[in-house]
Amino acid sequence: MDYFAIVIQFLFKNKSLRTKECALNRKSIQFYTRQNLASWDEAASIHHSINKDLADRVCRPDFNNLNSDFNKLLDTLDVAGKSIIQICCNNGIDLLSLKNKGSGYCLGVDGSFEFIKQARELCCSTEHAQIEFIQSDIYELPEDLFGRFDIVLVTVGVINWMPDLSIFFDICQRLLVDNGHVVMEEIHPVLNMFEQAEPSYLAYSYFDKEPVKDENGLDYFTNKKYQARPNYWFQYTLSDLFSCAISANLQLAHFKELPYNVGNYCADLEHSHSNPPLGFNALWQKRFTFS
Ligand SMILES: C[S@@+](CC[C@H](N)C(=O)[O-])C[C@H]1O[C@@H](n2cnc3c(N)ncnc32)[C@H](O)[C@@H]1O
Repeated sequence: MDYFAIVIQFLFKNKSLRTKECALNRKSIQFYTRQNLASWDEAASIHHSINKDLADRVCRPDFNNLNSDFNKLLDTLDVAGKSIIQICCNNGIDLLSLKNKGSGYCLGVDGSFEFIKQARELCCSTEHAQIEFIQSDIYELPEDLFGRFDIVLVTVGVINWMPDLSIFFDICQRLLVDNGHVVMEEIHPVLNMFEQAEPSYLAYSYFDKEPVKDENGLDYFTNKKYQARPNYWFQYTLSDLFSCAISANLQLAHFKELPYNVGNYCADLEHSHSNPPLGFNALWQKRFTFS
């Protein structure tokens, strides 16, 4: 184990690694993202074998993987002809859904080589073979992408993988043209308080900032565990989310909490008597900047 990994393990065991006052440095961000991306690469073949019918489904001209609230929100942006970048696009099916809604140039970015391969293969089998995909850690995006997009798309299961949320939002706004939008559907931060079980139960503090190490794998379709490469995820409160967006010069235009399952995490809570919000939709607009 190299020196840096030992330091990370020490810090991990002894104190919170991320507070608003003391953001992670570049090297620690890199440590977490590399570990996580290796874990995602490992999960790709498992996801592929579970979603056997996907290649057929995406070929339908009206294929749309997005739920109705999110579709309605996207419709307020009039996506036709707009340039869109999806960050952490996984196998690209959400971006493909947007292309089917008439959007213009579409670029998907994901740090997992294996998922980008799947995204290219899936899109090639449709009439939208021209959607582009690149493999990149979003903290290391090529700067020539900045200022080029009308919309940054973020769909379920992204912010918890981000070791630094401030930098994440800053990157989102840099990718946009002036007055462009970040549109997001995510798992509600309140679910960080729950342990997934049958039934899921309240177990953790909402304010916990420890990165959570997991070696049970990333099969969130069947929730089957496997001995996996470690991954680390990060908990953020709604205040973190809003304050990081404000610092990135993004103005909130819409926010809606969702009472139904969006990411298959603690999905049973949708039907519980005291159901918490399970997801949210949000829309931010990049404020015009003089430069
Ligand atoms: C839960 S999946 C997102 C799925 C996506 N919402 C969808 O349904 O298409 C999370 C994705 O984030 C990617 N990811 C995690 N950390 C990343 C990083 N630092 N840079 C780029 N991609 C990252 C993973 O490779 C994975 O494909």
